[in-house]
Amino acid sequence: MQSITYIRELTQRRPRVAVVLGSGLGGGAEILEDTLSVDYASIPGFGRATAQGHAGKLVFGRCSGLECVFMEGRLHAYEGYSPQELAVPVRTLRGLGVETLLLTNAAGAVNASLAPGQLVLIEDFINLSGVNPLSGPNDDTLGPRFPDMTHALSPRLRDMIAQAAREAGIPLGRGVYAMMHGPNYETPAEIRMLRILGADLVGMSTVPEILTGVHCGMEVAAVSCVTNMAAGVLDKPLSSEEVIQTAASARERLQRILRNTLAALSEEA
Ligand code: HPA
Repeated sequence: MQSITYIRELTQRRPRVAVVLGSGLGGGAEILEDTLSVDYASIPGFGRATAQGHAGKLVFGRCSGLECVFMEGRLHAYEGYSPQELAVPVRTLRGLGVETLLLTNAAGAVNASLAPGQLVLIEDFINLSGVNPLSGPNDDTLGPRFPDMTHALSPRLRDMIAQAAREAGIPLGRGVYAMMHGPNYETPAEIRMLRILGADLVGMSTVPEILTGVHCGMEVAAVSCVTNMAAGVLDKPLSSEEVIQTAASARERLQRILRNTLAALSEEA
């Protein structure tokens, strides 16, 4: 892949862990030292992040001595990328040597016992987006045609993140994330459907990255920041401003969890 060759020539950095920062959660790369930023726009074959609250840069750096790379901003299916284009960022990270993928996102609460500002560990997901980055010919050197998703969100990493949150004194919920295609927010009827299906959270991202990461053998975990009650839970319209603002208010807590998780990963390395 051109993107891998390009970055390999640009820098000697060989990150082992990657963190993807979702809407309003950018700036999380502040926890890195000795950083090097690369704009997505400069990387061949890499889509540009056009969504609000997504800076569109890779930030290489160290945290607790661990070589990391943070993606500030991600690509979404609703931006019009093909399934294959959606797979490029995670496959690029894999090509650079990343083994552990920590994903974050902003999500709506389908489960009314969750509240805006709360951080929730994703335990499993439902892909209702109609998009799959693994569709098309399979590259058997990357991974299997029919990857298993029984433990897509690594139980081991989930335990580490839960422990990291406990150490930081930050409450962390648990839930099932449903991906919708977007870009419109859901209708109240869709949210009632998602509740019946067993979803606690809804969003427009993350699932393509989980699928791509698991396929190519990465250990994957994901944390949502609840930015709003999903459509119809409250009698008020949803807005992307509210999503970005609420995510930004949770950023510092998320950074503390990430910092502790990276410290634990560094210790075992
Ligand atoms: N729906 C879909 N995506 C979202 C939401 C939501 O309510 N909140 C943040 N991202």
